[in-house]
Amino acid sequence: MTTSYHEQQPTVLVFDFGAQYAQLIARRVREARVYSEIVPYDIPAAEVARRAPTAIILSGGPASVYAENAPHMDPAVLDLGIPVLGFCYGIQEMALHLGGGIPRTDIGEYGFAELEVVEPECRLLEGVPERSQVWMSHRDSVGTAPAGFSVTARTATTAVAAMEDPARKLYATQFHPEVAHTEFGQEIIKNFLHTIAEIPPVWTMVNIIDETVEQVREMVGSDRVICGLSGGVDSSVVAAILHRAIGDQLTCVFVDHGLLRLNEAEEVVRVFRDQFHVDLVHVEAEGRYLTKLAGVTDPEEKRRIIGEEFWQVFFEEATRLKGVKWLAQGTLYPDVIESGSKTAAKIKSHHNLIPFPEGVHFDLIEPLKALFKDEVRAVGAELGLPDEIVHRQPFPGPGLAVRIIGGITHEKLELLRAADAIVREEILAWDRDRTVWQYFAVLPDIRSVGVMGDERTYGHPIIVRAVASADAMTADWARLPHDLLARMSNRIINEVDGINRVAYDITSKPPGTIEWE
Ligand code: XMP
Repeated sequence: MTTSYHEQQPTVLVFDFGAQYAQLIARRVREARVYSEIVPYDIPAAEVARRAPTAIILSGGPASVYAENAPHMDPAVLDLGIPVLGFCYGIQEMALHLGGGIPRTDIGEYGFAELEVVEPECRLLEGVPERSQVWMSHRDSVGTAPAGFSVTARTATTAVAAMEDPARKLYATQFHPEVAHTEFGQEIIKNFLHTIAEIPPVWTMVNIIDETVEQVREMVGSDRVICGLSGGVDSSVVAAILHRAIGDQLTCVFVDHGLLRLNEAEEVVRVFRDQFHVDLVHVEAEGRYLTKLAGVTDPEEKRRIIGEEFWQVFFEEATRLKGVKWLAQGTLYPDVIESGSKTAAKIKSHHNLIPFPEGVHFDLIEPLKALFKDEVRAVGAELGLPDEIVHRQPFPGPGLAVRIIGGITHEKLELLRAADAIVREEILAWDRDRTVWQYFAVLPDIRSVGVMGDERTYGHPIIVRAVASADAMTADWARLPHDLLARMSNRIINEVDGINRVAYDITSKPPGTIEWE
């Protein structure tokens, strides 16, 4: 199966032996400006030969090579003459298939270790000082290198921390060069890519755009394409790149559910209609959504209604347009690959589950499906999208509906929008380097007593939520300075009529979630 729009690029295939390492490796390779793709560990050698990658990297993985169901690669891959670099589980696979010794010691090594380079002339570790810090995470390790290999580095507990056989173009490390804890990790990856495999660092945003534009033109020809625009990063970049590729053949449908943050809807219209001159259908659907959501308090029910209504409105517009053949989607690379080896690089099924109404069908075009999120942002910036869109923080599809606890009304939306705008303005002014992952205001379904001037108030509180996170899977509440919290609190109470109290959420995830609903 081919997953790439980029077959003419020098490509590195990353064999996925499980865990999270393969994605990280693919990203590091791309940071070295070389195109990379993740493939299942058991891809047959004949398929590898057909795809003709310029180099191969074997990822780490959680299994022991001796485990009954351990994932094993097709050993013939190692005979193709393509440069191969193995990490952790990858070094053990190489040793297993080429006749090295992997004693079952049951003594693992986890965390930092000091690497000692013992072969100064080696190619992979060129430029790495005699002693440096590396990251280890393994139980088994290679005790004796296979014939033909020289051992190039060791640690106090690992006899073969790195080995290489330049004649067969095979290289491996027991440690993880892809993690930030390994001091010279990226240098090692670059040595392999640029010096050993001789791949120049040419994968840049400009050529990603040029190639994608070319591919889209080839696929679409003179057909018309429709794209659902939400104002989020992914759909915005899809729209911008399609517009670059096919201009007027693209129509964007912006389903404005009225649950966006302050000024967001106006910005989508300003950027896409006025700046890019995209053929934009702006459906102002707040009324429809509020009618459907009236009295609904269950979070999942809100999500269901909002999701269904989106497709309803979208297809009403889409079927009004004549001659549309394609539907563009902002699928990204992490949506396409599933770690866990066997299933890697297979399309996740739910991505094809667009609820086409009876008798309606469009072919899918997914121009970002080879890209990671940071690459999508870089492409967006290169295409001229404003910072507010390119660096937008994660925002749930159901919008403010999941930040208003209880039933949703226009008035509550206005309250939350005003308070949320203050939270964002204040934190952004303080957090110029964008270290806080996500921050916003929540409107709970309670009221409390307060006093303003001489008058007793009975108003709503606002809860401020701000979290540090790397991927939203886990999160910690952000340690915002007290002065900043005080400023937000004062401004919200003074500027938003109806709010008389501000609380700060000091719950991490787990046990809390980032959103309140
Ligand atoms: P939680 O609240 O589960 O959120 O910790 C994790 C991340 O996912 C976002 N989120 C959503 N995104 N539709 C979305 O597109 C949703 O229904 C949804 N709920 C949560 C949330 O903002 C956070 O970044």
